Amino acid sequence: MCGIVGYLGTAPAAPVLIDGLEKLEYRGYDSAGIALMSEGKLAVVRRKGRVAELAFARTMQGDLGIGHTRWATHGAPCERNAHPHRCGKICLVHNGIIENAASLRAACEARGEAFSSDTDSEVAAHLIDGLYRKEGDLLRAVKGAAGQLVGSYAFAVLAEGERQIVCARMHSPLIVAEGADGVFAASDLAAVQAEGRTAYVLEDGDFARLTDGGVELFDGALSPVAREAVPLGCEEPAPDAGAFRHFMRKEIDEVPQAVQNSIPDLSKPEFSDLCKVLCQTQYLHIVACGTAYHSGLCMKHAAELFARVPTQVSIASEYRYADPIVPPRTLTIAVSQSGETADTLAAAQLAKEKGSRLLAVTNVAHSSLTRLADFVLPTHAGREVGVAATKSFNAQLAVLYALAARLALARGRRAPTLAGLPTLAEETLVRCGRIGAWTPYFQGARSVFFLGRGADRCAALEGSLKLKEISYLPSEGYAAGELKHGTLALVDNATPVVALACDRALADKTMNAVHEVYARGAPVFLVTPFEELYHAREVTASVLLPRCEPAFSPILSVIPLQLLAYHVSLALGRDPDKPRNLAKSVTVE
Ligand code: AGP
Repeated sequence: MCGIVGYLGTAPAAPVLIDGLEKLEYRGYDSAGIALMSEGKLAVVRRKGRVAELAFARTMQGDLGIGHTRWATHGAPCERNAHPHRCGKICLVHNGIIENAASLRAACEARGEAFSSDTDSEVAAHLIDGLYRKEGDLLRAVKGAAGQLVGSYAFAVLAEGERQIVCARMHSPLIVAEGADGVFAASDLAAVQAEGRTAYVLEDGDFARLTDGGVELFDGALSPVAREAVPLGCEEPAPDAGAFRHFMRKEIDEVPQAVQNSIPDLSKPEFSDLCKVLCQTQYLHIVACGTAYHSGLCMKHAAELFARVPTQVSIASEYRYADPIVPPRTLTIAVSQSGETADTLAAAQLAKEKGSRLLAVTNVAHSSLTRLADFVLPTHAGREVGVAATKSFNAQLAVLYALAARLALARGRRAPTLAGLPTLAEETLVRCGRIGAWTPYFQGARSVFFLGRGADRCAALEGSLKLKEISYLPSEGYAAGELKHGTLALVDNATPVVALACDRALADKTMNAVHEVYARGAPVFLVTPFEELYHAREVTASVLLPRCEPAFSPILSVIPLQLLAYHVSLALGRDPDKPRNLAKSVTVE
């Protein structure tokens, strides 16, 4: 996914565009560029790397322009593949994937058109340019080109010499906004937030034309259309890591507050309709990706244990193509920090089409997922800047565990309280003060295993993902009891093992796996609330967690794993906030 911006107004465009791109860097940051129009002439600058590489362009002339920060899909991350892309008088920025780009490009090349990049986006520039030369109308040219595309797109398009920006949206988020200082286009609200402006959320198939007269919205037939107006509040202050070196470390420190703020009071009137549905729910389906998928696995464990509600957790990109069976009285829960993950949105849409009610658990108000859902249970983790999800995972668990407890209550069953979890999370952070000392055992690892059973396995999966995505070390989260069925062959003194044993009923079984890997030379690191295990002789180092409801233990046991990943990432010279190849919100499939 990428971030796109556009501006037309009375102020110099370059600073507006670059400031907007800085707020969208969470969407991708392998290259960036802007195009500016000054006295009808277009100038384009692009650089490999972060938006900061464009600092020199802040003084460029022009009060109209577009900009882009990239997460490479087609074509390596380099200057020639960076956006904006030009063809003739047309210049565009694109977020999405054009799935039929190869055939369209071949047709353009057969007509003698030369390409300067390896991207799918440049194909759109060629199509628009061809139609623009014929019709001379930019809006109609963009519509005509969009009609040939298969896939997803959010475009902002300029034509040299014309004082307008044309936008189009299909399956990639795009908003337009207007205010006293001009008109704007952006991938999300954060990039245009400012007092007195009004934003409009484009829907799939919509077009927009931005001029000095303001914003015009059109449907797929180019008929004028009205969209939800979102009054923008004061500009969000630039996120600040404060006393911390990285946002990720700050956000781990915010876990207790995120949990505290996210535990919902489901007795509130605003949740009465949802609770009625909960009482009728016979099946739970959870669809999510990455970390959110892991929080769904944690929810399954708790919902089936306490409420005895059959719960199916699906990786959204699998669910959306699996023609899922959705029985009557199924409630589908879509979990997504950003609320913009393409696979999760598609899975959620499919669940609705199959007759399920849809509950969104997300951290971003006004996100696409909140607009799709029948019900919303927000997490209140606060803005999460680090690409690696941390506090948002704990916040998702706070919401999902409360939901599991409410489901249990609705069935006259035991419903453990979550009340003490924020304090226990605070205590856990205190007890993790020495995690950094584990780092040397991991720096040179060939691979790392995270082991657990039951709820511990869910936390192990999340711990493994954290380590992989910010240290680039191979790692695997694994069912402790499954190791001996093959994967144990990989274990030796170069494969440190992190074992989680937070459920007394399963802890001794997990320790069997600890003995097995210890016997093969692996250094073992244990996360447990049980003193007797904490001092086990096979363990190189361990963290003694505070006691909590075992089924809720991932909300605590993940904290040392988040910190471990952070310290190992630093030791290996990585950037834990912006790891390579990744982005915070994956709005393409
Ligand atoms: C987690 O650390 C990753 N950043 C990634 O797996 C993420 O959880 C996934 O892309 C889902 O994002 P979402 O919660 O915004 O839908």
